[in-house]
Amino acid sequence: MSKIIVAIDGFSACGKSTLAKALAAHMGYVYVDSGAMYRAVTLFCMRNKIVGTDGKFDEKKVVNSLKKIKLSFKYNPAAKASDTYLNGENIEKDIRQMDVSNNVSKISMIKEVRSHVGIIQREMGKDKGIVMDGRDIGTNVFPEAELKLFMTADVDVRVQRRVDESNSKGEHVTFDEVKHNLMQRDYDDTHRKESPLTKAKDAVVLDNSDLNKEQQLAFVEKLIKDFLLTKDTLSL
Ligand code: DC
Repeated sequence: MSKIIVAIDGFSACGKSTLAKALAAHMGYVYVDSGAMYRAVTLFCMRNKIVGTDGKFDEKKVVNSLKKIKLSFKYNPAAKASDTYLNGENIEKDIRQMDVSNNVSKISMIKEVRSHVGIIQREMGKDKGIVMDGRDIGTNVFPEAELKLFMTADVDVRVQRRVDESNSKGEHVTFDEVKHNLMQRDYDDTHRKESPLTKAKDAVVLDNSDLNKEQQLAFVEKLIKDFLLTKDTLSL
């Protein structure tokens, strides 16, 4: 049974990781959250005062710090996904904080950061059997991916989902601050010079504004079945 690569790209807080996790579990594939790697680099730079509290940083210092950063992942059965480790420390919770979200887009614009992280991502997908989500997975990391999805949803729907998720974890964020962060990141991610967020020509668009998790998974399962009918490479 041949394995494939599924690349899921899209705007912030579109439910990419929720769908990617469910799909990976369904297919017995590895799920990789590529944004977590950019968040980990950002967290390292914030902790080491390379990124100031005002969000300003010296690009050269960020690039220099890359050699001090060791990223790894370890499966967490409770979360049914891998946790992100920075130099051996589990930073899964820390990288989801709003201060990291506010700085990550700018750090992820740096060419050397992207090429460093891109090498790790390509290595993770070399044996296929992977579902990776992010902003440039179908366009830059795995342009050869057999299935590419481009996810989008109404911005207010996305904001409300993120607010609900944070509240359920006991974190208090307001609708307005989340909306400001998402809109800024969408702008930064789509306008940057290095591998901006854009739909790959051969990606299928999934607008999930009005779709629940089961409907989204069913949509992708159908795509994969159709793919199977045309290419005899995979059996689920
Ligand atoms: O998926 P996320 O929201 O955790 O990603 C955080 C940021 O990382 C996002 O705003 C842009 C950047 N990112 C990227 O540039 N390329 C990727 N493949 C994934 C994330």
